[in-house]
Amino acid sequence: MIPFIDLNAQQKLIRDKIEKRINKVLDHGQYILGPEVKELEDKLSSFTNSKHVLCCSSGTDALLLSLLGLKIKPGEGVIVPAFTFASSAEVMPLLGAIPIFIDVKRDTFNIDPSKLYDSLQTAKNIGIKVKGIMSVGLFGQPAEMDLINEFAKNNDLWVLDDAAQSFGGKHKEKSVGNLSEVAATSFFPAKPLGCYGDGGAVFTNDREIYEIANSSHIHGMGKKRYEYDRIGMNARMSSLQAAILLEKLEIFPEELKKRQVVANNYDKYLNSLNLGIKVPKINDNFKSSWAQYTILLPENINRAKLQEYLKSKNIPTAVYYPIPLNEHKPYNKYPVSKSGLDVTYYLSKNVLSLPMHPYLKEDEIIYISDNINNFIKNY
Ligand SMILES: Cc1ncc(COP(=O)(O)O)c(C=O)c1O
Repeated sequence: MIPFIDLNAQQKLIRDKIEKRINKVLDHGQYILGPEVKELEDKLSSFTNSKHVLCCSSGTDALLLSLLGLKIKPGEGVIVPAFTFASSAEVMPLLGAIPIFIDVKRDTFNIDPSKLYDSLQTAKNIGIKVKGIMSVGLFGQPAEMDLINEFAKNNDLWVLDDAAQSFGGKHKEKSVGNLSEVAATSFFPAKPLGCYGDGGAVFTNDREIYEIANSSHIHGMGKKRYEYDRIGMNARMSSLQAAILLEKLEIFPEELKKRQVVANNYDKYLNSLNLGIKVPKINDNFKSSWAQYTILLPENINRAKLQEYLKSKNIPTAVYYPIPLNEHKPYNKYPVSKSGLDVTYYLSKNVLSLPMHPYLKEDEIIYISDNINNFIKNY
C-alpha cells in the first residue's frame, strides 16, 4: 500500500537526532515544562515572527486557550465554516459560546469572505452578539486573511485562525501564525509539523491574550505556584513532544518545499487527464503547507466506488469531510447563515483526498493518476 502519510520515511532521516533529544529529556527528568518546551516556543516564534508562542497539549486545546485569551463569554457568537474538522466549532459550545456556520469557497475550501456580512446579520437577527471569526486554513492554504481581517476590523470583531492544517503556509511572505490576532495549530502526528503524540500551540502578538492563555494552560495559575487568577485547565505540552518537534522543525522548511513539488506533480498529471477533476486552487500570494491534497471529482462519479477501486490498487484515499458540521447532532441546533451552505454540501459529496507527504515519489503520483484515469475512463 502506498502510505497516505509516510511518517517512517521522515523518521529514518532524523531518528538518531530524535533519540539524542529524547535521551536528554530522560537525563534531566523534567518531563513537564522542561527546557525543550521553552526552546521550541522560541524557535516557533522566530519561524512565524509571532511575538508570543505558547506550546500546549493539542490543537483543540490551543483553540480553547485562544478563546479564553480572547475572553469569549457564554452566549456570544463566533462565525466558523461548516466545512471543517469538528474541533473548529467544538470549542465554542465548550465555553458556552455559539458557532454561526458560514459557507466556504468551492476552489479553495476556505471561508467565503463575501458571505461574512450575511452571517453577521443572521446572528444579529436572532439576538446573538458575534465577537469574532474563526478562519480555518483547510488542507494547508490560509484563508483570505486580508479580506477577513478587514471585515473583522470594520465590525469590531477579532479573528482566530485555526491553523491546525495550514501551519507552514504563508500569505504575502507573512507566516501562518501571524496572520490574525491569534492563531492555533496542532502537532498531531499526521499534521505537516507533527509530534509523536498530541500537541499544539497558540501564536499571538498580543501580550494579554498570551498571558491569559499561558495562565489558563496551567490551571489558571497566578504569579506564584498554587495561586490562581482564573479557572483554567491542564493543557501543558510534554517535554518529550517538544524534544521531538525541535528535530522535526529543523527539516520542516525542506519538507514544505518537497510537499509543494508533490502538489505540482499531482496538478500536472491530473490536469493532463482531462477528466474534469478540479485540482486545488492556491490563490496568488499564498503558500499552502499541503496538509492534504484534495481534489474535486466530477459530480457523476461514484466516490465510494472510486475509493474501493483505488484501494484495490493499494492507493489509500480519505474523505475530509463527508458531512457538513451543522448536520451532526451536537451541532444541528446552531445557526446557519441565511445564504445557506450550498458549497459546503457540494464539497462534502465530491471531495477526495489523495496520499500526501513530502516523500511521495513522482512515479507513485503517476501510478495514482493513471489509476484514477482507468477508473473514470471505464466508468
Ligand atoms: C482544522 C482542524 N482544527 C483543529 C484540529 C484539532 O487538532 P488536535 O487534533 O491536535 O486537537 C484539527 C486536527 O485534527 C484540524 O484539522
